[in-house]
Amino acid sequence: MSDDKPTTWTTAITQIEPNHVRLRGYDIGELMGPVSFGSAVYLILRGELPDEKVGRLMEAILVSSIDHGATPPSALAARTAASTGASLSASVAAGLLAINRYHGGAIEDCAHQLAHIVRRCDETGQSLDCVAEVMLDEMKQAGQRMAGFGHRIHTDDPRTKRLFDLAVEAGVDGPHMEAARAVHRVFASAGKNLPMNVDGAIAAVLAELGFEPSVMNGLFMIARLPGLIAHALEEQARQRPMRRIDPTNHTYDGPPPRSLNPNP
Ligand SMILES: CC(C)(COP(=O)(O)OP(=O)(O)OC[C@H]1O[C@@H](n2cnc3c(N)ncnc32)[C@H](O)[C@@H]1OP(=O)(O)O)[C@@H](O)C(=O)NCCC(=O)NCCS
Repeated sequence: MSDDKPTTWTTAITQIEPNHVRLRGYDIGELMGPVSFGSAVYLILRGELPDEKVGRLMEAILVSSIDHGATPPSALAARTAASTGASLSASVAAGLLAINRYHGGAIEDCAHQLAHIVRRCDETGQSLDCVAEVMLDEMKQAGQRMAGFGHRIHTDDPRTKRLFDLAVEAGVDGPHMEAARAVHRVFASAGKNLPMNVDGAIAAVLAELGFEPSVMNGLFMIARLPGLIAHALEEQARQRPMRRIDPTNHTYDGPPPRSLNPNP
């Protein structure tokens, strides 16, 4: 007997009907205005709206990684494509393609490694520092690096402490953030000044929020997209086509340092 029924597949993200758009069940018009972009990102990825504090933390994560100047591989990739006359979408796609294990994509690996430390502690009853020390030693022997630590420019990544402070303020702290602190302590006691970078801080905070590691690099991509667009557009507006782009030999000529609170 042949089955003539039309095949159908299901999606639980957004319901579209004539004159109606419902994101995870919520009418888009109701979300527009009161709900921040960070909360909407949480909603689409997790299926529920976060509470206000977690929504603000999501915003802070997205702001923390919006741009890091012209030297990151993704900015250089976007600029290189833009300098060839590529469209905005192609330039930005080139930038996104450069987000991987060692740049922007360290978040997922870091989350796995922090979870590994937490699991080993639970299994063995040993302290976080003890387990972190053994794991880092094993990784060193295997020629591997602890994702989310170290930075080419910063010795004390300004985004890390702020993100951890905001998480604690939002009532978010726990074993993954503790494991990240332990890794930092173990590096320091071995005489290695390897700061927890923003990828590491995001990994620890997202893990505390219950995000799966597989989605975490996506949050970095969402955050960095405006920066990549700005770099691609600036490249085409201010530079000649197909120039030789030196990765580091540039100077900043934007606004001087300023504050949201000019008269504190
Ligand atoms: C980001 C990164 C590429 C910067 O590297 P760098 O400042 O150029 O440092 P180097 O590659 O010169 O390494 C210097 C030393 O620190 C060690 N090191 C650097 N980062 C390390 C890490 N994450 N874990 C373990 N050891 C690390 C190196 O093995 C090297 O040790 P050695 O002197 O005994 O050989 C590097 O720290 C790294 O790979 N980090 C992990 C990936 C990551 O978090 N990326 C996101 C960056 S925002």
